[in-house]
Amino acid sequence: MTRLAGIIGHPVAHSLSPVFQGAAFAQCGLDVRYEAWDTTADALAGRVVSLRDPKYLGANVTIPHKETVIPLLDELGGQSARVGAVNTIVNREGRLYGFNTDGSGFVVALRNEAQFDVAGKAVLLLGAGGAARGIAFALAEARVASIGFWNRTPERAARLAADVARDGAPVHTVSNLDTAGYDCIVNCTSVGMHGGGAEGQAPCDFAAARPTALAVDIVYRPEETPFLRAASAAGLATLGGLPMLIYQGALAFELWTGVRAPVEAMFEAARNALKGERRR
Ligand code: ATR
Repeated sequence: MTRLAGIIGHPVAHSLSPVFQGAAFAQCGLDVRYEAWDTTADALAGRVVSLRDPKYLGANVTIPHKETVIPLLDELGGQSARVGAVNTIVNREGRLYGFNTDGSGFVVALRNEAQFDVAGKAVLLLGAGGAARGIAFALAEARVASIGFWNRTPERAARLAADVARDGAPVHTVSNLDTAGYDCIVNCTSVGMHGGGAEGQAPCDFAAARPTALAVDIVYRPEETPFLRAASAAGLATLGGLPMLIYQGALAFELWTGVRAPVEAMFEAARNALKGERRR
């Protein structure tokens, strides 16, 4: 029996997940088809119920359903309850388990693709939306030395900092955006994103940043954002958003299959698709 998995979101037409998850199943010789399931809020409950059928391995969940899907699941694993968001559903004999691999994917991406271990490091997080939230909890779990939170709307940064501090992580909020003194600076805002309101802009400058710091953008369209360009120009090492996307998917793949994810094949499929988009 061909089994099914897919991504639940709205819209999902531009999602790269079908491309690189499909490549992963093929590479491992698994008889699984991964589909894009465009699902409106009204259709979410029905879609999630259908996943209890044995033919479904599970699903990924993306914008705008990561929070609202939670009451539809049977159990929450990993950090998903604390984060308050689920990006991966696993069907185990008709019971649905929710996980969040966004933050852990980020930490693994830094370790594997930038040789950067976050443990003991001072990190500056720009942004306080859903993406920043997942990353902040994963950084706390990975025992960073400290997290500085900056957001355009300071109240949101203060709320996120307070939530993460409850886990015992050393955090502070930053009102004047200054990149001095950090080992790692992460852009979790949509500034610089293709099609976003602030395309072509960088959310900060790197004049005072440590030259040994790593700058990470979670945006992967475009691959080289203004934030990364400014960091490179200041001599910092950089990492784009594609590795985080791939590793959150790799961790989801491993939860569904118990098989080690073929990360290289996933990167190759995603890079080819992005290249194809640029040519169009
Ligand atoms: P996501 O779930 O992808 O994180 P989100 O919840 O909409 O998306 O969060 C987007 C983030 O980008 C927020 O931190 C937002 O700041 P606000 O909380 O002040 O809205 C930030 N952002 C969006 N546009 C911005 C801009 N022009 N300048 C600075 N920050 C911006």
